[in-house]
Amino acid sequence: MPFRVTLIPGDGIGPEVTSAARRVLEATGAPIEWEIKKAGEAALKECGELLPPDTLESIRENRVALKGPITTPVGTGFRSINVALRQELDLYANVRPFRTYPNAPALHQGVDLVIFRENTEDLYAGIEHMVGEEAAESIKIITRRASARIARAAFEYARRKGRRRVTAGHKANIMKLTDGLFLRTFYEVAREYPDVQADDKIVDNLAMQLVMRPQEYQVLVLPNLYGDILSDLCAGLVGGLGLAPGANIGEGAAIFEPVHGSAPDIAGKNRANPLATVLSGAMLLEHLGLAEAAQMVEKAVWMLLEEGRVLTPDLGGRASTQEVAQTLVDKIEILKGGGM
Ligand code: NAI
Ligand code: MG
Repeated sequence: MPFRVTLIPGDGIGPEVTSAARRVLEATGAPIEWEIKKAGEAALKECGELLPPDTLESIRENRVALKGPITTPVGTGFRSINVALRQELDLYANVRPFRTYPNAPALHQGVDLVIFRENTEDLYAGIEHMVGEEAAESIKIITRRASARIARAAFEYARRKGRRRVTAGHKANIMKLTDGLFLRTFYEVAREYPDVQADDKIVDNLAMQLVMRPQEYQVLVLPNLYGDILSDLCAGLVGGLGLAPGANIGEGAAIFEPVHGSAPDIAGKNRANPLATVLSGAMLLEHLGLAEAAQMVEKAVWMLLEEGRVLTPDLGGRASTQEVAQTLVDKIEILKGGGM
């Protein structure tokens, strides 16, 4: 039985990078049947809404999606599709691996860490109000339930991948109740994983440590706001958006997508870097239990970067999106032949 996966091409460079990723995943021979669904501007034009119920239904049913970036129309009345998907499907864990690849414009070598960002609460609950005319207040929500499930996701990952340590970032010295609860819950969950070390860092110090010695971190678990900020910091450390994959994971569904946006400035020019989407696809394969296919994709990306001949302009090359996809397909054919 093949896996049915919802494929959302998205806007801007989305259709280019997702079709490249699809070709690469298919080359592995992974048994996937795609269900193509619209969201974003493409959906607005055709169906009159940004997130058609049909698309949401497809993800609910298939439980797994590969998604291109979506342009959020500027102006009031449009809620971000990404926020909508996250809320509708309760995708509580934003998972982003960061590693240095050969020939990528990185500040450090040897980085290999994963951020687990809590995705549903904290200051991003958006509960704000004015206090008179001259002051405003935003309410920070932290619950034991949400703190426990993000911590558990991080420890499960560490155990599965043989990572030795999980580090929590927080500001519990100042926000003793909210971040205090997050931190206490983290250590409670840690007791269920005696085989994995647990420690914590105050988040401002953690930011500095990551800039100076990112190689020392393996798995980070963070509340929403700190996770958002440190994710972008880590993307910068390892060479930017072209190589940053991601996933939003919940109990009932998981959506895999690159970190970057729809890049309207280069859309339709066949010059977008598809590697972030390809690597998101590798995460998807692993999520489906297709570890061998996932490794093949990662290995092909690694080889392509190491050779440094077929690269898109953002990585200093002159190749097109399609050429990168074709080169990865060729490498996968070789890896398959080699009986990897
Ligand atoms: P962006 O990530 O689309 O672009 C920032 C810069 O990076 C641009 O110069 C772009 O050309 C370049 N870039 C991004 N991805 C690239 C790739 N794969 N290859 C080569 N160059 C790449 O961010 P921006 O401009 O802030 O947002 C554009 C639109 O994307 C907005 O409507 C925004 O709301 C949306 N967006 C959607 C996301 C999603 O659906 N997950 C995430 C981030 C932004
Ligand atoms: Mg962000």
